[in-house]
Amino acid sequence: MDDTPKNNTQYISNQNSNPSITGGLFENLLSVEPIFNNKELLRHSFTPDTLPHRDSQIQTLASILVAALRGDTPSNILIYGKTGTGKTASVNFVTRELEQTSTHYDIPCDVKFINCEVVDTKYRILAELANTFIDKNIEYILKQISKLEVSLTNSPNTFPTNDQQLQLEEISKLKDDLKSFTKVPMTGWPTDTVYSTLVKAVDYRERVVVIILDEIDKLVEKSGDDILYNLSRMNSDLDRSRVSIKGISNDLTFTDYLDPRVKSSLGEEEIIFPPYDAHQLNDILQNRATIAFKEGVLAPGVIRMCSGFAAREHGDARRALDLLRTAGELAERSGGSEVTTDYVEAAQEKIELDRVIEVIRTLPDQSKFVLFTILVLTTKDVSHITTGEVYNLYRQLCKNQELDVLTHRRVTDLISELDMLGIVNAIVVSKGRYGRTKQITLSVPQAHVEKELLSNQRNQRLFAGLEDISIIFQSQF
Ligand SMILES: Nc1ncnc2c1ncn2[C@@H]1O[C@H](COP(=O)(O)OP(=O)(O)OP(=O)(O)O)[C@@H](O)[C@H]1O
Ligand SMILES: [Mg+2]
Repeated sequence: MDDTPKNNTQYISNQNSNPSITGGLFENLLSVEPIFNNKELLRHSFTPDTLPHRDSQIQTLASILVAALRGDTPSNILIYGKTGTGKTASVNFVTRELEQTSTHYDIPCDVKFINCEVVDTKYRILAELANTFIDKNIEYILKQISKLEVSLTNSPNTFPTNDQQLQLEEISKLKDDLKSFTKVPMTGWPTDTVYSTLVKAVDYRERVVVIILDEIDKLVEKSGDDILYNLSRMNSDLDRSRVSIKGISNDLTFTDYLDPRVKSSLGEEEIIFPPYDAHQLNDILQNRATIAFKEGVLAPGVIRMCSGFAAREHGDARRALDLLRTAGELAERSGGSEVTTDYVEAAQEKIELDRVIEVIRTLPDQSKFVLFTILVLTTKDVSHITTGEVYNLYRQLCKNQELDVLTHRRVTDLISELDMLGIVNAIVVSKGRYGRTKQITLSVPQAHVEKELLSNQRNQRLFAGLEDISIIFQSQF
């Protein structure tokens, strides 16, 4: 295990015998005994070598992908599961093994991973795929040329033999091939041309290509299913190679929006990743903690508490790891040498606050205003906040701020969006013969909402003059 930080610390404390070098600001911080062995191992980007409680999903994936190593086309797969259930980590793990095995046995099999949250349009996906395979082809061609050239220069003959003549011709053909590949610019070409460039690049060699489309639901939401239609039909345009697609989604209903042909082609196989329970999260954290923390720094009950909190959310391993890492960071920052359950509680609070801040920060102004109205009513301790009450106060406040007043219907929709984002909880209640309404409560601590809405400079213009909620009460109620 890498213990460089500790060695550095020791080195620096030895040097510290000469106090005139600096004011000692960093030396003091560095001399604190570190809590982490390697914090990076708790980050999302790290794929561990073992993934407890995902054996069956990993086995199923491998048993489908093994076809690629036999030169056959693996079935397309759709992988579903809520956030943090190990979908991306398991797929990365399996494809890493697949690539290693194919390299070992020299079987032509390529894996391309695309995060559709980042690469999110038909053009960009086709371009990224085309450029990847152009790069791979160039690399392959250069390797072939260099092999042939080495064999020619090592030859003892002064005059080319027939064989060598053929090798020279092969080199010249490869050089022509090299010239025939032009990279696709990130904008500007007709999409059909990008697609045919991709087909040509992939089909340059006999191979099986596995394309992973992570967050595929976000792609469909943003750009429709056109690109999936192209990719799922691509094999009919290929002669030498074969393409297999793996889509990963945390929305189980996203296929409802797909063309039925695309749906049946992509979903030849389906793998579900269920949420983890507290025991499973405990095992996952235990494994990670052993390598990420110094021995003996975690107080009893810390891992159990992180697992419990994350299981209560929805069995999210990312949340559990975040809690453990943040608890460690908080302990480290306060100079402690042990991570106690108090730090886990503080971490839970911090993560929740960060989430709320992030969600509120990205809300459109009108949604912020609706949320502000709900906050005012909550502060006033209105026992049953209904949509009608929110709307009445919202309207008055909007007029006060000279803001456009949206319709009742639209405000109801914004409340539903806030509910989906986990900021408020809106349940439908019957009001007998007066119909139905929504009863609204904040589903995050009031102080968090207040902090982001009122103390954030960007919101100052929006809520100018309304900062002191108690004054609004006096004037409005
Ligand atoms: N069984 C497991 N063992 C060890 N670590 C795990 C396991 N499952 C998930 N993790 C870790 O939890 C974090 C989240 O996992 P991952 O990114 O695979 O979730 P996901 O299902 O893809 O979620 P999302 O839908 O939000 O993308 C990662 O850091 C991953 O390494
Ligand atoms: Mg993922």
